[in-house]
Amino acid sequence: MRIYVAGCGGMLGEAVHKVLAEHHTLKCTDIDLNAPWLELCDFRDYAAYKASVESFAPEVLIHLGAHTDLEYCELNPDDAYRTNTLSVEHAATLAQAHGIPLVYISTAGIFDGQKLLYDDWDQPNPLGVYARSKYLGEHIVEKRVAKHFIFRAGWMMGGGPAKDKKFIAKMMKQLAAGAKVLNVVDDKLGTPTYTVDFARNINAMLGTEYYGLYNMVCGGETGRYEVAKELVDVLGLSDTVEVKAVNSDFFSKEYFAQRPPSERLVNYKLDLRGLNGMQDWKIALRQYIRDYYREYVAPFAPNYTP
Ligand SMILES: NC(=O)c1ccc[n+]([C@@H]2O[C@H](COP(=O)([O-])OP(=O)(O)OC[C@H]3O[C@@H](n4cnc5c(N)ncnc54)[C@H](OP(=O)(O)O)[C@@H]3O)[C@@H](O)[C@H]2O)c1
Repeated sequence: MRIYVAGCGGMLGEAVHKVLAEHHTLKCTDIDLNAPWLELCDFRDYAAYKASVESFAPEVLIHLGAHTDLEYCELNPDDAYRTNTLSVEHAATLAQAHGIPLVYISTAGIFDGQKLLYDDWDQPNPLGVYARSKYLGEHIVEKRVAKHFIFRAGWMMGGGPAKDKKFIAKMMKQLAAGAKVLNVVDDKLGTPTYTVDFARNINAMLGTEYYGLYNMVCGGETGRYEVAKELVDVLGLSDTVEVKAVNSDFFSKEYFAQRPPSERLVNYKLDLRGLNGMQDWKIALRQYIRDYYREYVAPFAPNYTP
């Protein structure tokens, strides 16, 4: 298939490009041209987005990019809604005009955390600008595009040292700087989501006509504290690095955007369809470190064995 991927320069885009390029002909664009396979397109600019998509004549449009920094979104709501919501309207218009499927990536962060575990049919209640901007994107896609896939991801693990902006990279940076204590919240529950598994499951779903909305996260129920403990353990650092439990107040200045106490998802619909290819998060974490961080960890984790 000919597949256009918009906003493909980030953590998830790296894996989507790698996995889909093995099976399809791709055009990948972004505003950040950090790889030779990326072309320039700012999807906030409808005319530019339309020209870029139409010159490629894709059979599928994947609208991948977004502003994913919650604090940035709180401080810059206009840009957050332009980027994360209005640009989805652009994608919806283009997909519907050409009668092609649209793939949109949403987030577990659209829930308010009053439940411990959310399936695909639970009612979202977004707490902040980022979450609201992404949830509005879901509505647009559902209302305006007949053939659509909405895939909800959890805590993304992917991209390696060059592209990972999230939790694993933040832990790795502290360890690389010689930290012997990692302060980690024990009051935030969620589900890690390995970008490579996520991209593979997108590819599998593209081969079906099971359009709709799907939770798509790794297996297992966990939280930030357990993920950090597991990371330290995998790296062979349990004897030298302490993972210290703190509550979210500890980081209230740095991470001032509201986050749900639980954003754990279960892939109920994928399970029912027999199409849940997502691995357990502990297995995925080990693969992520082996495939992306092996050289990076060598100087500070001499006992690490892939
Ligand atoms: N990261 C997570 O934990 C997570 C969890 C659930 C869902 N998601 C969703 O997954 C998708 C991919 O996220 P990610 O983690 O891969 O984020 P990412 O690493 O920040 O990548 C997003 C990419 O989109 C680009 N972008 C931003 N504005 C753009 C614009 N106007 N036009 C074109 N490209 C633009 C970004 O460029 P700049 O870097 O220059 O801004 C970046 O290269 C997003 O839709 C996100 O909401 C992410």
